[in-house]
Amino acid sequence: MAETEFTSIQQAMDKGSGAVALHGWVHRERGSNKLKFVVLRDSTNTIQCVIDKNVVGEENFGLADKLQVEASLKIFGSIKKEERAPTGFEVHVSRFEIVGECDKFPIRSDQSREFMDDNRHLTLRTRRMTAILKVRSVFFQVREQFFQEKGFHRFDPPIFQPSQCEGGSTLFAVKYYETETYLTQSWQLYAEAAVYALENVYDAAPTFRAEKSKTSRHLSEFWMLEAECAWKGLHEISELAKEELKYCIVKVVEKCEPELKLLGQDIDKLRKVAAAEWPTIKYREVLRILKEKKGMDVPFGKDLRTIEEEKVMEEFDVPVVVTHYPVEVMAFYKPRDPEFADEALCFDMLAPEGYGEIVGGSERSMDVEDMKARLEAEGEDASNYDWYFDLRKYGGVPHSGYGVGAERVIAWICALDNVKDAIPFPRTMLRWKP
Ligand code: 4AD
Ligand code: MG
Repeated sequence: MAETEFTSIQQAMDKGSGAVALHGWVHRERGSNKLKFVVLRDSTNTIQCVIDKNVVGEENFGLADKLQVEASLKIFGSIKKEERAPTGFEVHVSRFEIVGECDKFPIRSDQSREFMDDNRHLTLRTRRMTAILKVRSVFFQVREQFFQEKGFHRFDPPIFQPSQCEGGSTLFAVKYYETETYLTQSWQLYAEAAVYALENVYDAAPTFRAEKSKTSRHLSEFWMLEAECAWKGLHEISELAKEELKYCIVKVVEKCEPELKLLGQDIDKLRKVAAAEWPTIKYREVLRILKEKKGMDVPFGKDLRTIEEEKVMEEFDVPVVVTHYPVEVMAFYKPRDPEFADEALCFDMLAPEGYGEIVGGSERSMDVEDMKARLEAEGEDASNYDWYFDLRKYGGVPHSGYGVGAERVIAWICALDNVKDAIPFPRTMLRWKP
């Protein structure tokens, strides 16, 4: 006998009538001792299925009493339009099989954040998390498409790296045979080697930071989406970051409207944000806004704190690129502005609505002596970076790049209140299980 061809719920609804075979999980069930209504879900949609004792027979109907929410099923029957059903169609079941019985499903909507996170392996299948996972999948896909359309090359950096890129205090050390190495904080230094071969590169890679912050924006393991380009300067590279994110928003909205609606996001607002001009201002301008509009006196020479980012972003409803942060609080590779030596040729992109810094990037210094001095000042042994300095020795060219925090952008697009929900199994200072 030929194997049954199962279709997805969505395919069955697209077909609209006739015989169907579906498999999925019980989303809801109710009924009497003659008639059961099961809402079946799969990854594509949900559909109401009607099990009538007179149709399936006494024995098969008896199984229906065992049906718990989240039990898995195979259902055979015929589909037809039914306006009163939740998704507009109904399956009249001729026969069904229980594939996996289900204990009482522990996840309900009224449980604490802690409980939900402890049971992440189960909460992943909730409608909310499923919607976020779909948006995440589309976001990564369209972002890849953006760079492929631009003729960039995908380049994969190593995850084990022997030295820091973004400051030693957030490195995760790992035992490496008889020695020690670190989990990557950024692919950047390796991407800088790659531009000499490929000129324009991008990646999507897991990134690790031992953040001592317990905020709704910080993960210990997150995905950084980086780009690095030979020959480009600060203006061009920050414009590329804007173009990339606008492209991604437009495509995600196009492909994920039902998911974004389910998450309570305002689609028109996102569309408007993507179509608007995103300003670029200098760090000194941020200090002026903070002082004049917010009564906050921040002296030049400090990195912006979360509260300051939030305050300045109250003045904008689209992302803002902030350039020229003070050199003294910036990573060693961010070059000095030739005209203003205390300002770095770097940028952050800040998101509106309290989502904070979503992108960080810069030109890359070509001044080896300056970088050495800055590394030594951080207590590093600069000779560990000899290979990196080599890149300046053999046909060095101006180049620049940036990294997008994937989870922060997804959290913003999905209107999530915590970046933890933008990644399937979050790792933070306080959570590394399940
Ligand atoms: O600003 P960051 O530290 O920049 C770099 O690492 C550069 N080397 C990137 C480059 O130029 N290629 O990190 C980039 C972005 C931040 O703007 C933020 O969005 C995100 O990565 N990010 C985090 N996201 C979640 N949890 C954390 N702990 C994060 N740390 C940074
Ligand atoms: Mg940064």
